[in-house]
Amino acid sequence: MPKLSKQRGVGLAFRLRTMGDRVLDHQWSFAEQAHSHPTSPEARAALLANPGFGRVFTDHMVTVQWTEGHGWHDAVLGERKPFMLDPATLVLHYAQEIFEGMKAYRTSNGGVVLFRPEENARRFNKSAERMGMATIPEELFVGAVEALVRADADWVPSGEGSLYLRPFAFATDVFLGVKPSSSYTFCVIASPVGGYFKPGVSALTIWVADGYTRAAVGGTGFAKCGGNYAGGLAAQAQASANDCDQVVFLDAAEHRWIEELGGMNVFFVMADGTLRTPPLSGTILPGVTRASVIQLARDAGHTVNEAPYSFEEWKSDAESGRMREAFACGTAAVIAAIGKVRHGGGEFLIADGKPGQLTEQLLSKLTGIQRGQVNDEHGWVHRVV
Ligand code: COI
Repeated sequence: MPKLSKQRGVGLAFRLRTMGDRVLDHQWSFAEQAHSHPTSPEARAALLANPGFGRVFTDHMVTVQWTEGHGWHDAVLGERKPFMLDPATLVLHYAQEIFEGMKAYRTSNGGVVLFRPEENARRFNKSAERMGMATIPEELFVGAVEALVRADADWVPSGEGSLYLRPFAFATDVFLGVKPSSSYTFCVIASPVGGYFKPGVSALTIWVADGYTRAAVGGTGFAKCGGNYAGGLAAQAQASANDCDQVVFLDAAEHRWIEELGGMNVFFVMADGTLRTPPLSGTILPGVTRASVIQLARDAGHTVNEAPYSFEEWKSDAESGRMREAFACGTAAVIAAIGKVRHGGGEFLIADGKPGQLTEQLLSKLTGIQRGQVNDEHGWVHRVV
């Protein structure tokens, strides 16, 4: 007979199901605090009608604390509410902070699923190590996300929308010395979303960063830390000032090699059907969508080269027709075609400026898997409800 045991840390229960010495499964459980004024079904329906991206939030959040000597404790699933932070809290000064982006999808049969959540948990810990922060057990990370999705399942839009989940952690020591914090808060919030880009944009116009780089070898480029995004905002403002949707960064050493966009990875489709994407050299984010696109393209018989591609090559290949499609990808953006590239010296079109055929095929395969409409042959979908 399987045996269920409960191990209680400081306010954090851990349930372990064992058979002899074998662990069958384990689950973290969260202290649940009732919401004093949950959103009414009518108000929620109105918010879900047109949520945009990142502006509407669900009723709940999960928080877990970490303190040196105690580890993770006080896991709470409760009402979403502001943090109260001392003005000297370390994160406000030295940006010791990391985050993840993932989504819950409503499937055709009404269930709710996550997509490869363990990949986000692994990347979160890689980011934590790089930023000198406490790592978190993967099952606690995934368990926290699941607990929030279950509590706010009614907020998962149907149709093309999804519930964007934002796990993050930050340094909470009240101290102005420059050293890793001895305490952290891990938190998960959720936001029902539609598309990341403004409606009506079928293909993006991309601005090539002028005078700004995003990451250098040995830096934090591969980590999902807020600082990487903050450092890209002036370039994103430059992109907007030039009427572009996104910025693409070139490498810091030679200002020549294409790296990634302000918040997503980039792919190129060549006329011979091969794909090319910048390699994971430590300066770009190892995207979960990026890895999934590589797998899906290979499954469909395409060669994918993770190889450097220079801006000059991109421009001349676009002009000669050797490169016929380009797209950005990430959890928030999914797969978004690039139609035009603008830079200090002019601009060029990608083919006819419209989404390419392979870009659309990959998008429909990926979203089909996520919504249970296409066979999930890699076991990427993780059912929650
Ligand atoms: C994501 O795609 O989830 C991102 O993190 C990109 C951006 C919204 C920061």
